[in-house]
This record gives sequence, structure tokens and C-alpha cells, in this order.
Amino acid sequence: MGFLFLLVIALFSSITASSSSKPQAEALLTWKTSFINQNNPLLSSWLLQNTTTAPCTWYGVRCDDRLNVKELNLSSSRLNGTLNRFMFSSFTSLTHLGLKLNDISGGIPPEIRYLSRLTFLDLSGNRFSGIIPPEIGMLTNLETLKLNRNRFTGSIPASLGNLTNLVHLRADNNQLSGYIPGELGKLVNLVNVNISFNFQKGPIPSTLGNLTKLSTLYLYQNNLSGPIPPSLGNLTSLTILSVYMNELSGRIPAQLGNIKSLIVLMIGHNKFTGPIPVSLSNLSKLEILDVHENLLSGSIPPQLEKLESLIQLSFSHNEFSGQIPASLGNLSKLQQLYVNDNQLTGFIPKELGDMNSLVEIYMVTNRLQGQIPDSIGNLRNLEYFVLHDNQFSGFFPETISHCEKLKYLTLSNNSLIGPVPQSVCNLKSLQILDLGNNRFSGVLPQCLGNFSGNLKVLDLRLNGFHGNIPATFDQNNDLRSLNLNSNRLQGSVPRSLVNCRKLEVLNLGNNMLTGTFPYWVDTLPELQVVVLRGNKLKGTLYNSNNKTPFPKLRILDLSSNEFTGNLPENYFNNFKAMMSVNGDTSGDLYMGGNLTMYQDKLVLVVKGLRLELERILVVYTTIDLSVNKFQGEFPDTIGKLTSLRFLNLSHNSLTGEIPVPLKDLRLLESLDLSSNKMVGKIPLELRTMTFLAVVNFSQNQFQGSIPEGGQFNTFENNSYQGNVGLCGFPLTKNCGDDEVPLSPTPVQDDDDDDSGFFNGFSWESVALGYGFGSVIGLGIGWLMFHYGRPRWVIRIVERQHERKAIKTPPVKVCATGRASRRKKHSQVFDVNSAMSF
Ligand SMILES: *[C@@H]1O[C@H](CO)[C@@H](O)[C@H](O)[C@H]1NC(C)=O
Ligand SMILES: *[C@@H]1O[C@H](CO)[C@@H](O)[C@H](O)[C@H]1NC(C)=O
Ligand SMILES: *[C@@H]1O[C@H](CO)[C@@H](O)[C@H](O)[C@H]1NC(C)=O
Ligand SMILES: *[C@@H]1O[C@H](CO)[C@@H](O)[C@H](O)[C@H]1NC(C)=O
Ligand SMILES: *[C@@H]1O[C@H](CO)[C@@H](O)[C@H](O)[C@H]1NC(C)=O
Ligand SMILES: *[C@@H]1O[C@H](CO)[C@@H](O)[C@H](O)[C@H]1NC(C)=O
Ligand SMILES: *[C@@H]1O[C@H](CO)[C@@H](O)[C@H](O)[C@H]1NC(C)=O
Ligand SMILES: *[C@@H]1O[C@H](CO)[C@@H](O)[C@H](O)[C@H]1NC(C)=O
Ligand SMILES: *[C@@H]1O[C@H](CO)[C@@H](O)[C@H](O)[C@H]1NC(C)=O
Ligand SMILES: *[C@@H]1O[C@H](CO)[C@@H](O)[C@H](O)[C@H]1NC(C)=O
Ligand SMILES: *[C@@H]1O[C@H](CO)[C@@H](O)[C@H](O)[C@H]1NC(C)=O
Ligand SMILES: *[C@@H]1O[C@H](CO)[C@@H](O)[C@H](O)[C@H]1NC(C)=O
Repeated sequence: MGFLFLLVIALFSSITASSSSKPQAEALLTWKTSFINQNNPLLSSWLLQNTTTAPCTWYGVRCDDRLNVKELNLSSSRLNGTLNRFMFSSFTSLTHLGLKLNDISGGIPPEIRYLSRLTFLDLSGNRFSGIIPPEIGMLTNLETLKLNRNRFTGSIPASLGNLTNLVHLRADNNQLSGYIPGELGKLVNLVNVNISFNFQKGPIPSTLGNLTKLSTLYLYQNNLSGPIPPSLGNLTSLTILSVYMNELSGRIPAQLGNIKSLIVLMIGHNKFTGPIPVSLSNLSKLEILDVHENLLSGSIPPQLEKLESLIQLSFSHNEFSGQIPASLGNLSKLQQLYVNDNQLTGFIPKELGDMNSLVEIYMVTNRLQGQIPDSIGNLRNLEYFVLHDNQFSGFFPETISHCEKLKYLTLSNNSLIGPVPQSVCNLKSLQILDLGNNRFSGVLPQCLGNFSGNLKVLDLRLNGFHGNIPATFDQNNDLRSLNLNSNRLQGSVPRSLVNCRKLEVLNLGNNMLTGTFPYWVDTLPELQVVVLRGNKLKGTLYNSNNKTPFPKLRILDLSSNEFTGNLPENYFNNFKAMMSVNGDTSGDLYMGGNLTMYQDKLVLVVKGLRLELERILVVYTTIDLSVNKFQGEFPDTIGKLTSLRFLNLSHNSLTGEIPVPLKDLRLLESLDLSSNKMVGKIPLELRTMTFLAVVNFSQNQFQGSIPEGGQFNTFENNSYQGNVGLCGFPLTKNCGDDEVPLSPTPVQDDDDDDSGFFNGFSWESVALGYGFGSVIGLGIGWLMFHYGRPRWVIRIVERQHERKAIKTPPVKVCATGRASRRKKHSQVFDVNSAMSF
């Protein structure tokens, strides 16, 4: 009897199966014909030829034994279309719908509610838009719901709280902007939740504390506010809690210390205040503790030594004070220690030398002091030792030469004294050596020229080194930046610099160098900046026979030397990089637009922080030959350097007239010809130079009427003083008036007249200020994520925008226009002073 019953059932169901699979096949074909690419070769098996098995043998289709479609797996199948013609009501047996990584757009139709047996729904990686329909909350068998990487907007529907079987929920990388529904706290089977990369606002619901099976909770990069609910301390299975880059505030709840399973805690880049709760030291499985860029204060709890699994500790950009606890020396697995930009004081404890695994130490911008402990030499895995902007004193930590893997050694802006030992040349992996702005003295170790094929940056500026520059730069070296500015170096510029084929920045300014212009560096193909100002170099700017001298040069500063002879006409004729302007002055192009190059620089920026930024300054084309003994006329060929923005020829003995082709320097913002012996009229044509913000023609023998119109309406008296023959606005001497007054505007002859005039306006300020913004802009996300956002980055980026806003030259320049320009520049100057070029 029972047997017969079964037989009947079986018979019956096979009949319904064969009759019901056909509508499903037709429904799929109807959907297929709605695709943009109907002849998608992957779907070539979707044909009605075999009516008994269609669609069960089709690509991506699986049926149950009653020939009902059970699974549709069409991931990465190049589907291009919408779900609008998908007949959901034909697929009530469907348990698995996988459409990830296609090009499906439009909304999810509310008819999706028919798929009531669905356990797996993956729509990720498409172009779905519109809201997430509340009807999804009716698919109560769902275990996996993936909606990530689409363009969904609106809120996560509260009805999802009905999906009590849900284990995996991904809605990350959309444009969701509502509140996280508290109803999610009902999904007690949830293991993984990812809602990161949206615009979710409001609080993290405290009900999430009920999800005792939850293992990973990713809510980073949203607009969440309010505190971390203490109830999250009940999430006893949680391994990853990542809420960085939100606007969360309040204290870090001590209850987080109850989550013994926690491996990763990332709460960086929020507005948390108060101390690090001591309870966190109970998290013995914790590997990453990242709280950077918050407003946390208090001292670093010594009890953190109990975090025996810790690999990364990131406390940068907070308000931590007090000393670095010696007990941290017990963190034997720690590889990265970041405490940049806090108010830490005291010594580096010698116990840090016990942290055998340390690879990176960043302690930039604190008030740390005393001798850097010798025990650092025990850290054989150390690659990054970056301590600039502190108050360290004492001698160079000689034992550091045992850290053979060291790549970055950055001790600039401290108060270190004494010589730099030869042993520094044992560091064969070194890429960056930055000891600038200390009180080092003695002669430079001569081995610095050839000790390492890897060295990219050698920065010893602002110290008391004397003696000669190392003369032994090897061939095939990798040096890109050599900065020895502001020391007491003597002798001549070494010829072996010609071996530094990758050199981009050569800065030997403000020393006591003698000899002649090192014309041989004009063959270096990458050289962008040459600064030799403030030395005792003599002679003419020798014209080498090189056809394309300095092909990439953008900044040439030879000011305050004893150069003689004519201006270097050959150079003006050939500086290729100063001629390349497409008339486009928009933000970022000056670097040459090579992305690989940018990235290369970016990595350096991030790792080396402030130091490396100097290599990126090469954006502002400048020629400064002021305060020398140049004579002769100002050559017409200057007009070729059309991307020049800053030209200073003041304090020389130039004669002749201002060449009219000067007007072709359409981007020029600053022109200083003061204190020369130039004659003639100021050419009317210069009125077309719409970017000109500052000029100084004073102390010459110019004559005639000052041009009117354009930027000339904005310059003041002091631009013209000391030219007896000039007349017209803004001078009081009227041009129509032939009776020359007995005494024209009295000449202020005091020494700081021009320096006062250009105060805050040196090319360095301009170049550095602008250079930065554009490049940093690209890497800001990464930078913020890993090291915290230095406050100045924000300021500079804002300034960059501001600059774009003011960039368009005003059609009718008035006094206020000028005032704002001036203000802009003086703001930029702040950056420079923080940069110490
Ligand atoms: C239809 O499919 C069945 C089962 O795969 C197969 O045995 C049969 O030969 C097919 N008929 C045709 C016409 O392709
Ligand atoms: C879906 O199909 C892809 C490739 O066609 C395959 O890699 C994947 O394992 C399938 N998934 C399921 C759940 O069958
Ligand atoms: C899908 O079709 C649209 C519209 O024709 C087209 O822009 C898009 O590139 C197509 N996508 C793919 C992956 O071919
Ligand atoms: C699903 O959730 C919504 C909103 O939370 C609720 O109003 C509705 O009654 C629930 N439906 C079912 C079938 O549980
Ligand atoms: C979470 O979402 C982000 C953004 O889409 C993604 O990059 C990340 O891989 C996801 N992580 C996990 C574990 O799902
Ligand atoms: C979930 O958590 C909230 C707040 O923490 C609590 O009030 C509620 O009773 C919990 N609900 C369940 C079902 O456990
Ligand atoms: C989210 O926060 C960002 C940065 O704070 C802000 O620019 C944006 O307007 C906010 N978006 C929403 C939808 O609140
Ligand atoms: C969850 O955490 C809250 C706050 O920490 C606490 O009051 C509550 O008793 C906890 N609930 C459970 C079920 O452990
Ligand atoms: C750490 O855990 C132990 C045992 O669970 C507990 O007794 C102690 O109070 C916890 N310490 C802190 C600071 O929370
Ligand atoms: C490291 O731990 C040991 C025992 O756990 C302790 O005796 C020692 O004082 C700790 N070291 C430091 C530097 O705190
Ligand atoms: C040197 O470091 C201090 C912080 O320790 C900072 O305030 C100062 O601006 C830095 N100076 C330069 C020139 O960078
Ligand atoms: C960009 O720079 C890389 C490495 O310096 C170089 O190989 C490549 O040719 C450059 N590309 C362009 C378009 O300049």
C-alpha cells in the first residue's frame, strides 16, 4: 500500500517536472534576449533543442531531481543587462543564485520575494543601483547575502532582521547612506559582516552585542558617529573589529578587553578621546592594535606588555603623553611600532633593544630626548628607524651600524652632536640617510660617496660639517637627492658627481664652496633642482658644448656667489623643461605626469615622511641669479622659458633694456630686476603677463611712464623706487608734468629694503608649498590609513584647492585681488618653514 503510494507520487512528480522545466527554460531565454550581448558565447548552450532536459543541462544551471532549477551559477559570465525580465515566479525552487562579477545594472525587482527557498544570493561586483528592496527580508532561508561592490543607495532595510539564518552579510562598497538597523541584532547566526566603504551614518547599534557567533565586523570608511557600544564586549567570538575612518567618538569601552578572541582591533581615524583602557592588555591574541589619528590621551599603559601576540602597534597622531614604557620591551613579536605625532617625553627605553622582531620604528614629532640607546644595535631586523622632529641629544648611535637591514635612517631635526662615524658606511641596505638639522660636526665620512649602491637620499643639511664634499661618487650609484645645504663645507664641487646619473636634486647652498660653476653636472639627465646659493663660487657660467644642457632642470638657484660675465644665454636657449608648457596651468601636471614615477615617490613619501617630500618640490620653475656680478644685457632668449614662474636677477650689474620677449613668460608670477644698471622704458607689452603678482624694478635707471593696465594697476611704489626717470601711477610723479620735482620719492636705501619686499616670497616657499599638495593628494588615503594623517597634509590639500580657486587671473585686477594673492603666498610660506629646505 505504502509502496503504491510512493510510486504514484514519483510518477506524478516526474510528470510535473517535465512540464514545469519548460517554462523555466523559456523564462531563462526571455531573460537572455533582454541582454545587451544576446550572443554571449558562454550562453550558447541555452537553446530549446532538447525539451526534456532543458534548461537543466545548460551552462550555469543545476536542477534538483525533479528537474526544477535549483542553482543558477552565472558568476563572471559577462552578462550585460538587467533583472527586469527575469521571471522570479518561475524559480520558486531556487536555492542558489550567483551573479557576481557581471555587468548587471538597474534595481533588484521586489519580485525577488518569490525565491523563498534561496539560501545563497550573490549579486556582488555588478552595477546594481537603487535601494535594497525590503522584500529581501522575506527570503528567510538566506545564509549568504552578498550585495557588495554595486551602487546601491538608501538604507539597509530593517526587514533584513528577519533573515535569522543569515551567516554572511556583505553590503560593502556601495553608496548606502542610512542608519545601520538595530534589527541586525536579531541575526544570531551571523559570522561575517562587512558594511565598510559606504556613507552609513548614525550610531553602531548596541544590539549587535547579541551576535555571539560574530567573527568579523567591518564597518570602516563610513560616516558612523557616537560611541562604540559597550555591548560589543559580549561578542565572544569576534576576531576582527574594524571601524576605522568614521566619526566615532567617546571613550574606548573597557569591555572590549573581554573579547578574548580578538586578533585585530582597528579604530583609527575617528574622534575617540580618553585613555587606552588597561583592560585591552587582556587581549592575548591581539596582533594589530591600531588607534591612530584620534584624540586619545594619557600615557601608554605599561600593561600592554601582556599583548604577547602583538605585531603592529599604531598610536600615531593622538595626544598621548608620558614616557614610552620600558615594559614594551617584552613584546617579542612586535614588528611595527608607530607613535608619531604625540606628546611623548623622556628617553627611548633601552629595553626596546629586546624587541627582536622589530622592523619599523616611527617616533616622529614628539618631545623625546636624551641619547638614542645603544641597544638599538641589537635590532637585527630593523629596516625603518625614523625619529625626526624630536629633542634627541648626544652622539650618533654608532651601534646602529649593526642593523644591517636598515633602509631608512631619519634623525633630522634633533640636537645630535659630534661626528658621523665611518661605520655608518656598513649599512649597505641604506636608501635614505637623513641627519639634517642637528648639531653634527666634523668632516663628512668620505665613504659616503661610494658606500652603498642603494642610497637614494643623502641629506645632511643644517649641521656644522666642514671639510670637503666626498669626491668619490661611484658609477652606478642610485643617488637621487644630495642635500648638504647650510654647513661649512669647503673646496670645490666634486667632478665625480657626474657619476650620479639618477640625481634629481643637488643642493649645496649656504656653504663655503669655492671654485667655478660645476658645468659638468649639466649632463645629468634627471637633474631638476640645482641650488648653489650662498657660496663663494667664481667665474663665468661656463657654457659647455652640451647641446641639451640640464634637460630636466626646473629650479636653478645660484644667488649670492661671485659669478661674473654675461647671463648664460646658451642655457636660456636650452632649458627644455622650462619651455614645456601647454598653456595649461592646472594643478598636477608639472611633475611630468608619469604615474610610475609618482608612485615611486609616494612610497618614499610615506616611508620617509617629511624628508622625502623635498624631492617632490620640483614643480615650480625658477631661476635665481641674484646677488652676483653678472653684467651685460638681459638676453632676448629668456622669452623661450615659457614655464618660468619666478625670475630673480637683482643685485647684479646688468645693463641695457628689458627685452620685450619677456612678455612671453606668461606664467611668471614674480620678477625681480632691482639693483642693476638697466635703462630704457618698462615695455608696455608686459601688461599682458596676467599672473604677475610681484615685480621689483627698483634701483635702476629706467625712464618714462610706467605701463598702465593689467597687473600693473596692482603694484605699489616700492616696485619702482630709485629710478629717477620713471613717472606715472603709482608714483607721485606725474608724466604730463615736465617739471621734474627737486626730490622725487625719497629712496629708502636701507639694506633690508628688498629682502623685506620679498619676505615670505622666496622661491623655496612657493615651490615647496605647491609641490607637495599635488603629490600628497594622490596618496593621502594610504598615508592616512597607515600612519595617520599628519595635520599638515590636510592643510596643504586644502590650500591646493584654494589655489585652484584663485588660479584664474582676475580680469580686472583691483587692490583686493592683489591682497588675496599676497595672502595666499604667505600661507604657503608656513609650509616652507616647517620644511627647512
Ligand atoms: C536529450 O537529453 C537526454 C538526456 O541528456 C539525452 O538522452 C537525449 O539524447 C537528448 N535528446 C536530444 C534530441 O538531444
Ligand atoms: C560557480 O561557477 C564558478 C565558475 O563557473 C565556479 O568557480 C564556482 O565554484 C561555482 N560556484 C558554485 C557555488 O557552484
Ligand atoms: C554592457 O553594455 C554597456 C552598454 O552598451 C556597455 O557600455 C558596457 O561596456 C557593457 N559591459 C561589458 C562588460 O561589456
Ligand atoms: C520582517 O521585518 C519587518 C521589519 O522589521 C517586519 O515588519 C515584518 O513583520 C517581518 N516579516 C516577517 C515575515 O517576519
Ligand atoms: C570588506 O569590504 C571592503 C570594501 O569593499 C573590501 O575591500 C574587503 O576586502 C572586505 N573584507 C572582507 C573580509 O569581506
Ligand atoms: C539584544 O541587545 C539589546 C541591547 O544590548 C538588548 O536590549 C536585547 O534584549 C537583546 N536582544 C536579544 C534577543 O538578545
Ligand atoms: C560623510 O563624511 C564625509 C567626510 O567627513 C563627508 O564629506 C560626507 O559629506 C559625508 N557624507 C554623508 C552622506 O554624510
Ligand atoms: C552585554 O553587554 C552589556 C554591556 O556591557 C551588559 O550589560 C549585558 O549584560 C551583556 N549581555 C550579555 C547577554 O552578556
Ligand atoms: C583581565 O582578565 C582577568 C581574567 O579574565 C580579569 O580577572 C582581569 O580583571 C582582567 N583585567 C582587566 C584590566 O580587565
Ligand atoms: C618582561 O616580563 C618579565 C616576566 O614576564 C618581567 O619579569 C620583566 O620585568 C618584563 N620586562 C620588562 C622590561 O618589563
Ligand atoms: C622640529 O621639530 C619640532 C617638533 O619636535 C617642530 O615643532 C619643528 O617645527 C621642527 N622644525 C623644523 C624646522 O622642521
Ligand atoms: C615612466 O617612468 C618609468 C620609470 O621611471 C619609465 O620606465 C617609463 O618609460 C616612463 N613612462 C613615460 C610615459 O614617461
